[in-house]
Parts: sequence; structure tokens; C-alpha cells
Amino acid sequence: MPRSSFVGGNWKCNGTCNSVSSLTQSLSTTTSNIVGAEVVVAPSTLHLPFVFKNIRGPIQVCAQNISSTGSGAFTGEISAEMLHDFGIRWVILGHSERRKFYHESDELIGEKVRYALLKKLSVIACVGESLEERKNDETTNVVTRQLKAISDNVSDWSRVVIAYEPVWAIGTGEVATPEQAQTVHETLREWISKEVSSSVAEDVRIIYGGSVKPGNSKLLFEKADIDGFLVGGASLKAEDFAAIIKSTL
Ligand code: G3P
Repeated sequence: MPRSSFVGGNWKCNGTCNSVSSLTQSLSTTTSNIVGAEVVVAPSTLHLPFVFKNIRGPIQVCAQNISSTGSGAFTGEISAEMLHDFGIRWVILGHSERRKFYHESDELIGEKVRYALLKKLSVIACVGESLEERKNDETTNVVTRQLKAISDNVSDWSRVVIAYEPVWAIGTGEVATPEQAQTVHETLREWISKEVSSSVAEDVRIIYGGSVKPGNSKLLFEKADIDGFLVGGASLKAEDFAAIIKSTL
């Protein structure tokens, strides 16, 4: 069976009460007739309850992070249990901004993946190389090392989507070419086929993130191993996000 497409909107640390309300409303309208793609949006933790309660149509709501431990004395954290109790079923883990600005290691990300799956969440697990790593020809080593730390902690692959987000393409306007992205996606799928199983490799969605816009998503999506997108900036505009989703149908 062909893999269904998956598109995530990562709102990052953006939004006000007004802008989140109007984006939620516009998205409910612009995506109401979309069928055939799995779609999630990830607002900030503060805005999660509002979006969860008010979004309409085919869009699921996703968190941007969780604690690697459960509920308890962990000031400032949000736990997988809390999300699940609230009705939220998705979380983004291992985003390069978490790795870079909050020093999240492969090991910590692996623990978070394990805990999220244990508590019945689904995970968008991110990997991606920096510009320097790409220039040094280390892309394959970096993304497979990151993927191994994730894979070692996966108890149920049906609840995992892998996002390849080259750091140099995030928020820079410099999108990877379809060929560059396809090469890495193929490498990731081959790694999964060898190290996990060929059926998991066949079924798992591998999505691309990094300056995805309505103008470049179609060509990227035409590549065999690109199953959708994780969208940052363009997901803050309902029309653009809807157009990106439609390019995957
Ligand atoms: O997680 C999405 C992401 O990091 C890409 O951001 O703004 O380049 O689409 P952007």
C-alpha cells in the first residue's frame, strides 16, 4: 500500500492570543475539504489548549516537546501523560532548535522518544546535519547516528514519522534541492530497511523540513522517498499551509 502523505506545521515560539485565534479559524476553513493527507499543527504549549478546542476539519494537534520523564517535580516541563490526558496524540522530538539551543543530546532525544511511545503518543522525530557537517561530507554519518539513537528507542514504528530537516535550510529560505533531499531520505530508508526491517522501511513516512513553501513543495514531493513536510514559517499562513498540503495529494 502506498504511504499516505503527512504534513506538519511547526509554529515554534510564535503567536499571540489574536494571531493564534485567527490562524486556527483560517486553517479550519482552508483545510476543511482536504482528504488523504495526515495533517498536524504544533502550537506553543501555552496555545495548545485553545487550538485543540477550536480547530476544525482534518487537523490534529501536536506538542513541540515533552519531558523525558513523567509527571512530577520537574519545574517548567510538560509530560507525555499530561498531553495524552488532554487528548493530544502527537509530539515533535529532536528538532535541531532543541538540539542547538537547549543542548539536547541524541541520548536525551532517544529517552524522550521511548517515553512518548510508552505513553501512547505518536512522534515526529527530527534529524538533520549542519552546513559545516554537509561541507565536510558528514551528512550520512550525522543523520544515521541521530536516527540510530531514535530507532533504538522505538517500540512501535506505526507511531513514528521521521523528519529530515537540514539545519542550513531551516528558516533561511535556502531549501534543499529535491535531489539533495531525496538522497538523504533514501539513505534513511535504506538504513531502516537494514537495521530494523524492510516492512518498516516501506511503511514509515519520511518528511522533509527546511524552507518549504507552496512554490517548492510539489517538486520535492515528487521524489520517491519524500512523504510530506514539516513546515515552519509557511505554516503560519493558512493559505500557504493549505497549498503545501494540497501539493501532497
Ligand atoms: O520544523 C520546521 C522547520 O524547522 C522548518 O522551518 O521555517 O524553514 O519552514 P522553516
